[in-house]
Amino acid sequence: MKKILKLFILFFSIEMLFCCSGSKTSAATKVTVTRKEATAPVRVGTDFALRAKVTGTKEKPIRWVSRNEKYAIVSKKGIVRAKRAGIGKTVRIVAACGNAKGGITLTILPKINPKKKMIALTYDDGPRYSSTRKILRALKQEKAVATFFTVGSNTASAKNRKILKQSFDYGNEIANHTQSHKNLTRITSAEVRREIRTTDRRLQKLLGVKPTLFRPPYGAMSAVTRKISAKPNIMWSVDTLDWKTRNANSTYRCIMRNAKDGSIVLMHDIHDATANAALRMLKGLKKKGYQFVTVDELYRYKRKKLHVAGSYFCVK
Ligand code: NI
Repeated sequence: MKKILKLFILFFSIEMLFCCSGSKTSAATKVTVTRKEATAPVRVGTDFALRAKVTGTKEKPIRWVSRNEKYAIVSKKGIVRAKRAGIGKTVRIVAACGNAKGGITLTILPKINPKKKMIALTYDDGPRYSSTRKILRALKQEKAVATFFTVGSNTASAKNRKILKQSFDYGNEIANHTQSHKNLTRITSAEVRREIRTTDRRLQKLLGVKPTLFRPPYGAMSAVTRKISAKPNIMWSVDTLDWKTRNANSTYRCIMRNAKDGSIVLMHDIHDATANAALRMLKGLKKKGYQFVTVDELYRYKRKKLHVAGSYFCVK
């Protein structure tokens, strides 16, 4: 009899536990929110898709909530629409499933006017914590974005991973620049494949999305490497030679002299001098009427297509 009573009490307390939780979802339920696509900036006037991944339950109804509807609203399907009042501000978007919640903090950036001048700044070979952080600060200050061609092996350090994630969360585009920066025309096809795939996997694990753009180290490519990359190969039209001069003034002057509407500018976020030139350059270009876009945005706003295995230098 005692045994039956014990069992009854046990059963009753388990029931209580579930009732108190107020939901059928277990404590292990987890919600993770990521961007749906690799292209990153959240801009006023363009819809922005989020994805919620739910683990630990079969229940799937997700409720999306914006923590500040003055800055941005979110639809039932996780589509974010940013408002003018939110420019330069951050907004937290939360997805809830039962009692479990997950969220993402987005920075709202200005609308792009396709009729005005635009430029895509690109930074290669990073991340390197101190210099990449300085560039990120300058970009945030000017509400500008850039594209970072990342070397996978540089994501081995936790600090570098942190700054890369912050950069992506802010709205910069993160692209693939191979795993160890080898000249792809001098290694076997199998090695080329490995160089690109390892970085794809690392970035996907870290950011939740796979990069869509690729830049071959040294700009060295062939029809074979382009095909293996399975992505548009992004080159440049303005070469600052920042790696050679290591001089902030030269980098600044080179860009101010050579920038054109539709340019893609090559720089390296691993050099302090390049980081030191960032804020001045952004202010100078802004004065000349430039809008700062990612490479993906440059082609979208100029209504040009990027094709897998194609190579691209600028938009004329
Ligand atoms: Ni490089």
